[in-house]
Amino acid sequence: MRRHVNGMKTFGAALAGMFVASAGVSAAQADDAVLIAKGAYVAKLGDCVACHTSKGGPEFAGGLPMATPIGKIYSTNITPDADTGIGSWSYDDFARLMRTGVRKDGTTVYPAMPYPSYARLSDGDMHALYAFMKGGVQAVHKSNKASDIPWPLSMRWPLGVWRHMFAPSATPAADQSDLSGPSVARGAYLVEGLGHCGSCHTARGLAMQEKALSPEDGSAYLAGGGPIDGWPAPRLRSEGADSLGAWGVDDIVAFLKTGRNVHGSTFGAMNDVVVHSLQYTSDDDLRSIAMFLKTLTASSGNSTAAYRYDATEADALHKADVSKPGAQVYVDRCAACHRTDGKGYPGVFPALAGNPVLQTASPRAALHIVMSGGQLPALKKAPSRLVMGPYADVLDDQEIADVVTFIQTSWGNKGGPATAKDARDVRKTSEPLETDSAAFTPKSQDK
Ligand code: HEC
Ligand code: HEC
Ligand code: HEC
Repeated sequence: MRRHVNGMKTFGAALAGMFVASAGVSAAQADDAVLIAKGAYVAKLGDCVACHTSKGGPEFAGGLPMATPIGKIYSTNITPDADTGIGSWSYDDFARLMRTGVRKDGTTVYPAMPYPSYARLSDGDMHALYAFMKGGVQAVHKSNKASDIPWPLSMRWPLGVWRHMFAPSATPAADQSDLSGPSVARGAYLVEGLGHCGSCHTARGLAMQEKALSPEDGSAYLAGGGPIDGWPAPRLRSEGADSLGAWGVDDIVAFLKTGRNVHGSTFGAMNDVVVHSLQYTSDDDLRSIAMFLKTLTASSGNSTAAYRYDATEADALHKADVSKPGAQVYVDRCAACHRTDGKGYPGVFPALAGNPVLQTASPRAALHIVMSGGQLPALKKAPSRLVMGPYADVLDDQEIADVVTFIQTSWGNKGGPATAKDARDVRKTSEPLETDSAAFTPKSQDK
């Protein structure tokens, strides 16, 4: 028996026990409570709340705008409200939508709802999820917003055609409850299915379909996707320096659970995944995810050499030699937190030396975080908040390009250089982070 399943059962049984003791409810109601508790965990793994909640709005009541290449769409109200939510949906209506994208009214949803991934849910998890959506979520009366997509692109019938071409025929995974301990099989189920990691980490084709939905579909799977709101999602396949190749299973688990590890920290779109979903994932399940990711090897066949630290820049900066372009800006603006040796302060300020973000040919991700700043909110297992202020208003395009080139090419990093034009392009789409913390002003001159 899996530990996390046991854990959920124990939690559910305790909850159910409380009901029975306090209200004298029936055994059937106690069973419901167990199922709802299991479904709450499934919903966390599936990260439903992240997309189905508008900023500051009630949970699951929808209304979050999502950009697509043809216009903005809005997530829907999935609370059990009978008029505006899914209160009138039967289990079969719900399971059909989750597996095939077809609504109760017969129309097809946009693939922004990752149903091609959820299609893999086991029957047991689907039933638990339904029980939670019906019995564990507060009903909210809130009408759905129509999309901003202009006619004729707003017609929904092409979505049905899309579904036939790109969505796999739904084959629910076998029940997971008799897997014991962390396993690659459980990891595959979580990554390909509930976790829908590929919706960001796999490149999309011309019709916005993910190029691969599992490793069996080929090496495009999790080979990097995006950008999502301007943040490129890196490849999750092991390919040496430019990838997770240098990370062990424990490093991946720490990153997913606490948003940080010795190699770096989450930012941008990945922050939300950690905040809403992964920090609640059991240790066994995180380990399963990491074990599965480690089975994915080079997509190109020619993997790059593993990262090795190079002390040249650290030595130069210690001797106050700032002749390398960008070095002066780095010392003035960045070294207080990321240190002259690029090693940061583990668990607080991420290392830039060897950081996978800085091994990519494209400087986009680095430009974006320097422009916008980043903030990882406090998590259950990592209560300190990490904040880096935005530099868009502090540095000009050339200074940003120089400092990004410096960090992409120092301490052994193998990333590509940035030009002032790259910086100008990223500036157009980056929104400086609003931070409430005056303690972290980027104007700090500490060295
Ligand atoms: C990546 C964002 C995203 C995630 C994650 C997500 N959804 Fe959705 N979902 C959407 C969007 C967007 C729509 C509406 C699509 C449309 O209008 O065509 C939608 C539609 C739906 C609908 C149809 C509702 C209706 O009124 O037609 C249901 C039910 C639903 N989602 C349930 C879930 C559940 C349960 C989860 C978690 C397991 C989940 N969704 C996770 C984006 C998401
Ligand atoms: C006040 C401390 C501080 C200063 C100063 C600072 N950073 Fe950061 N930096 C952080 C924190 C905290 C994060 C993690 C943010 C997150 O997780 O969203 C970060 C993240 C990053 C990242 C992404 C790496 C990762 O794994 O998250 C890069 C690249 C980066 N900083 C570069 C720079 C550059 C270049 C400068 C100077 C122009 C700079 N930083 C100045 C604290 C700082
Ligand atoms: C909403 C989009 C999105 C989803 C969904 C998503 N990620 Fe990410 N992920 C990102 C972005 C953007 C980054 C780059 C920023 C960073 O390193 O935090 C990233 C970075 C990562 C990294 C660090 C990789 C590196 O080389 O630095 C790991 C590991 C990771 N994601 C794992 C996962 C797993 C596992 C899942 C599914 C459970 C997942 N991600 C789902 C957007 C996403």
